[in-house]
Amino acid sequence: MVESKGWNWKIVQGEKAEYWLEPSVESYYVLNRWKSEGKKELLDLGCGLGRHTILAAENGFNTKAFDLSENAIERAKEYSEKEGLNVEFKVGDMLELPYEDESLDCILCVNVISHTDTEGMKKVINELKRILKKDGECYMTLGSKETWGFKQEDWPLADPNTRIRMDEGPEKGIPHFYADYNLIKELFKDFIIEKVYQKEDFVERDGKVNSSYHYHLIVRK
Ligand SMILES: C[S@@+](CC[C@H](N)C(=O)[O-])C[C@H]1O[C@@H](n2cnc3c(N)ncnc32)[C@H](O)[C@@H]1O
Repeated sequence: MVESKGWNWKIVQGEKAEYWLEPSVESYYVLNRWKSEGKKELLDLGCGLGRHTILAAENGFNTKAFDLSENAIERAKEYSEKEGLNVEFKVGDMLELPYEDESLDCILCVNVISHTDTEGMKKVINELKRILKKDGECYMTLGSKETWGFKQEDWPLADPNTRIRMDEGPEKGIPHFYADYNLIKELFKDFIIEKVYQKEDFVERDGKVNSSYHYHLIVRK
């Protein structure tokens, strides 16, 4: 299995950090869904700078936030204290989650779970299954095999589904697992797949348009 590596958030400052402070479009939907179902115990897995941690805590969830990057956790903690919110923060690796069996109603995991290889994915999915209560749900995004990153032949393959990202930036040296629909069905065979769709996002930077494809997935235990 490849070694886990958190993002280098230290180089994501100022304007570059702004994108990571605005919650994703889908996060509003899933939090509303979980709120209306009376779910309460929430984990923001791979919370980064805490954009979804804050939104969840503001929406009344008992919120826990977890990330491998100490810098991310420090900044997310500062943000939540500034907002007067009560969140439990922890630093660690998603391959071994420090939470009790069947202790969570819902897990939000935006652009995180793919930061491992195929063996690591299976391990994380087992951890999700272990810590979710019955009927608990996880919303996550997964890199798609159709996206540009999977086609970068100069990024080393760690296994047939995983490349190590090699371009300069906060993700340099970090594994990226890429999925397709059949692989998703196989990996989540012990869950009920409530929703799965693939979305293309366009980001304009320095006059260039980049697009990337991700699967969005809601699974229920
Ligand atoms: C693309 S960022 C997403 C952050 C946040 N979910 C958001 O949407 O703003 C990916 C995050 O996953 C974290 N991460 C990567 N590998 C991890 C691991 N093995 N365990 C826990 N967190 C990890 C990174 O440090 C980074 O903060």
